[in-house]
Amino acid sequence: MSTSNQGFATLQVHAGVEPDPVTGAILTPIHQSTTYIQESVDKYLAKGYSYSRSANPNVRALERKLAILEGGVDACAFGTGMSAINATMMALLNAGDHAIVSDVAYGGTYRLATKIYSRFGVEFSFVDTASTAAVEAAIRPNTKLVLSETPANPTLKCTDIAGVSEVTARRGIPHAVDNTFLTPYYQRPLELGADVVIHSTTKYFDGHNATVGGGVVSRTEALHEAIAFVQNATGSIMSPQVAWLTLQGTKTLSVRMDQQSANALAIARFLEAHPKVEKVAYPGLDSFPQHELAKRQATGYGAMVWFEVQGGVAAGKAIMDSLALWSLAENLGSVESLVTHPVTMTHADVEEAERKRVGITDGLVRLSCGLEDAGDLIADLSQALEKV
Ligand SMILES: Cc1ncc(COP(=O)(O)O)c(C=O)c1O
Repeated sequence: MSTSNQGFATLQVHAGVEPDPVTGAILTPIHQSTTYIQESVDKYLAKGYSYSRSANPNVRALERKLAILEGGVDACAFGTGMSAINATMMALLNAGDHAIVSDVAYGGTYRLATKIYSRFGVEFSFVDTASTAAVEAAIRPNTKLVLSETPANPTLKCTDIAGVSEVTARRGIPHAVDNTFLTPYYQRPLELGADVVIHSTTKYFDGHNATVGGGVVSRTEALHEAIAFVQNATGSIMSPQVAWLTLQGTKTLSVRMDQQSANALAIARFLEAHPKVEKVAYPGLDSFPQHELAKRQATGYGAMVWFEVQGGVAAGKAIMDSLALWSLAENLGSVESLVTHPVTMTHADVEEAERKRVGITDGLVRLSCGLEDAGDLIADLSQALEKV
């Protein structure tokens, strides 16, 4: 049993989950059932469940845990992080509305806005949300959502969550924050004034490259109900098995994040000192342009690093192809260390001019630092750098 005044490590293990009332099973058994038999017409929903699109015990356990860890009133879990972002947009935007989105964000967020929502008469401005003044200047009378991603994928640009939330609160505009890169263990947007927190649980919550999933935590009942309505109406739900696996991953979230972040710092320092590396970015480095903001609004810097090498794109690609312990793959946040080339992989749908404008260069190599020994990860990077 957990109470909300307990520490994060206790809550990540116990919050939201009750032993099975029938068997005492410590893990919520996987409730693989479409429907739930009702005792009588008058006692419809007496046990809380009717049909698995509307609610499922495994998914509810994860939703309760996400809400408690982020400090919100409730949460909805989705089949992917993208469906979490989609449900947030669908709940808050109508034809004729305008939304502000961080100019650096996961490529799928940009794709959803420019290729789907634009067809339904919603306008977007992709704004440098690192500048609170730029966000304020971009607000129009019909602005109904500000969506920031911080640190942003892949450049790690940070948004001042409290600063932007103060501006949006004054105008009555919901501020949604994609907190995928830091999780509530390191960064708690609702405490900084945001209204909605979005996650791709695919990343650190799962942490084991086993699932894709998403979550949205709301500050108010009204926001939660609007998002839950879209979830049920559109059927964008998480499956019981994915919820079960994500709950298992979440129990070790803080331990993994601390170790993966320590690895990231060691790797970033190694790269910074390497003569062939031209640029390296990690929010925990003193050289990171927003190091002070990162330090102020989060309790850790995360496990994402990027760098560029001498020799540009060709050399960057050669390094990615020469790595042996690091896997060339899309995803991040897992115990396995991954290397990604955003321009051809995660951000391929962002037009070249837009990528250049926001600093997603052709030579950018993105690292998601895993749980292996830092020495082995550095040795692999070192041998790959020797080859260029
Ligand atoms: C910051 C961020 N938000 C959202 C998503 C989308 O999540 P999913 O792949 O689970 O749909 C991603 C995916 O990489 C991401 O990096």
